[in-house]
Amino acid sequence: MSLAELQALERSSVIASYARQPVEFVRGEGSHLWDEQGNEYLDFLCGISVTNLGHCHPRVVAAVREQAGRLMHTSNLFYTEPAMRLAERLSSSSLGGKVFFCNSGAEANEAAIKLVRKARRGGDVVVVHGAFHGRTYGALSATPQEAKQAPFAPLVPGFRAVAPEPEALAAAVDEHTAAVILEVIQGESGVHLLSDEALRAARAACDEHGAALVFDEVQTGMGRTGTLWAYEQTGVTPDAITSAKALGGGLPIGALVTGERLSDVLQPGDHGSTFAGGPVVAAAALTALDLTDDEALLAHVREQGGVLAAELERLPHVVSVRGRGLMLACELDVQAPAVARRALLEQRLILNATGPTTLRLLPPLTVGAEEISEALARLAGALEG
Ligand SMILES: Cc1ncc(COP(=O)(O)O)c(C=O)c1O
Repeated sequence: MSLAELQALERSSVIASYARQPVEFVRGEGSHLWDEQGNEYLDFLCGISVTNLGHCHPRVVAAVREQAGRLMHTSNLFYTEPAMRLAERLSSSSLGGKVFFCNSGAEANEAAIKLVRKARRGGDVVVVHGAFHGRTYGALSATPQEAKQAPFAPLVPGFRAVAPEPEALAAAVDEHTAAVILEVIQGESGVHLLSDEALRAARAACDEHGAALVFDEVQTGMGRTGTLWAYEQTGVTPDAITSAKALGGGLPIGALVTGERLSDVLQPGDHGSTFAGGPVVAAAALTALDLTDDEALLAHVREQGGVLAAELERLPHVVSVRGRGLMLACELDVQAPAVARRALLEQRLILNATGPTTLRLLPPLTVGAEEISEALARLAGALEG
């Protein structure tokens, strides 16, 4: 089918909740995608930090093929080995408690919200300005962005947004607070790093008042910042993390991972999801986690992230670069959406604009030095217009 035919089908049959770019992809391998005419693109967005291991990583593909040919679904009324092994692997690679599986980042945050409210028998949830936690009602209520929330009022009550600053976080928490939920590095808002002081203040306030500290690692996790989880570089350990995106190696899975203190709050009947932790996605995630929790790969992310950040600084129209590992953003002195569009359509480089002057880059963790040089050349072409 041609792109024009797909666009006609979209107009007649698809609810218009996405503004798609006029490109149809038919194949992916490593850092590259190909459109239906055979044109190659460099993917420095990874489906918004999902294909962190590159497209169609052979070991993930093999795990999916093998499991799909054996058993695809049973529901959580029964045991399957991939889910139990994945839970153990996730817990032992992070907070040491227990895991609840779901199907997306928003659902992982829903689970976190339910868990912290049950732990506190109610209570407020403190979030920070600029946060993005997803589009379902609980997650949306935790996402203090007027444009995203306003059309869908009334929202879930009991959410309060404060500045991501130490004093504001310390002052926001009291004995009625169920949790502080935040991203260590805000992704959707344009790669904004919370300071270690702010994270420490949130930790101290939660400890003082018996509230839970939850880090949304949906975008920052799975190696994106150069450690398996972003919190490892902050010196602050949360009571729970949420994960999704790259966790499934390209397939949809989400997870809430707790530390010891919160691991037995949810009990049979409290929460659930038909597909959650199904054997195919769990087998994919187990393989993705094995491949990502690898010091050589994580060192590569830190090293190539440093190279990419330094080289981006030298490009025309780039005012500043921020981020950690391979989660980077450039502030431009020209309009970022136009640059991203030219990069895609004229240079065949995929990245995205998160604001009027902000470009976000989320290349594969496996990206090679030559691919980085090539991407920089293509981005320079797009910046020159
Ligand atoms: C930090 C963060 N949390 C939650 C979400 C929502 O994840 P999903 O789109 O899988 O529901 C996103 C998605 O971009 C995210 O970046």
